[in-house]
Amino acid sequence: MAGGRVAIWWLEVSKVASPHWPALLARLDQAERDRAQRFHFDHDRLCYVAAHALGRGLLAAWTGVAAGGWGFTVDAFGKPEAVPPAGMRRLRLNLSHTRGLAAAALTEEHDVGVDVEWLGRRPVEDGLAQRFFAPAECAQLVALPPEARHHAFLDFWTLKEAYVKAIGKGLAQPLDSFAFTLDPLSIAFDDSLSDDPSHWLFRRLRPTESHVLALALRHPDPGSVVVETRAMSAEELLAYP
Ligand SMILES: CC(C)(COP(=O)(O)OP(=O)(O)OC[C@H]1O[C@@H](n2cnc3c(N)ncnc32)[C@H](O)[C@@H]1OP(=O)(O)O)[C@@H](O)C(=O)NCCC(=O)NCCS
Repeated sequence: MAGGRVAIWWLEVSKVASPHWPALLARLDQAERDRAQRFHFDHDRLCYVAAHALGRGLLAAWTGVAAGGWGFTVDAFGKPEAVPPAGMRRLRLNLSHTRGLAAAALTEEHDVGVDVEWLGRRPVEDGLAQRFFAPAECAQLVALPPEARHHAFLDFWTLKEAYVKAIGKGLAQPLDSFAFTLDPLSIAFDDSLSDDPSHWLFRRLRPTESHVLALALRHPDPGSVVVETRAMSAEELLAYP
């Protein structure tokens, strides 16, 4: 299928003015609002609210159906899927939130995953990479100068999370069953996955100075896909119905 389109929006949480939070919260349904209440730390709650309001805003912008009007189902691996209104094509939304940033990716029909990470987090790469990454990825990290490893680790991490989120398995999928190269950006799968690299589009973005973002999209013709990116403000988001 030619002519694919994927939209990636992000929202910097620290730039949301206090008066906008009640309106963003009002976009969420009762279950999301209940979940928001259960976060221990305010910064986690705000990132959650931002991500869910952003996802709903993106659905509204794409379809014209109001942000608050969307329902979601959740599968056995925890992957939420938007329930399309009758007669509308299947929309695939994925969300991610990290310290200071929320992101949402939306497309039609095809598996999509997005992941964001905060570059300010404590470097933990040596142990984590050895434990979870594929040997070829560990070798790439070790070959880098020490000062470049933290950023590269988070590039690998976000790409790997975006892929496992796109296939819907989350961390139930062993992270060493596939391996990325960063430059050029490519993926290789081991036999357990029976997946095909030519059916995937990956993007690495730097939405802010302090964050990295990765997108994974399964598509029969990745070269034909238009990737639309947009840094949203709360005002712009709330302008959608
Ligand atoms: C999905 C997962 C990779 C998220 O990673 P993370 O970096 O901590 O969090 P992110 O902010 O990037 O993404 C979280 C969002 O991904 C979405 N999500 C949750 N599970 C998902 C899955 N299996 N696949 C794709 N997306 C998923 C949700 O929208 C979630 O947002 P929410 O918690 O605000 O509702 C990880 O939490 C995971 O693997 N969860 C599933 C656990 C699991 O395997 N359970 C098995 C149940 S039998």
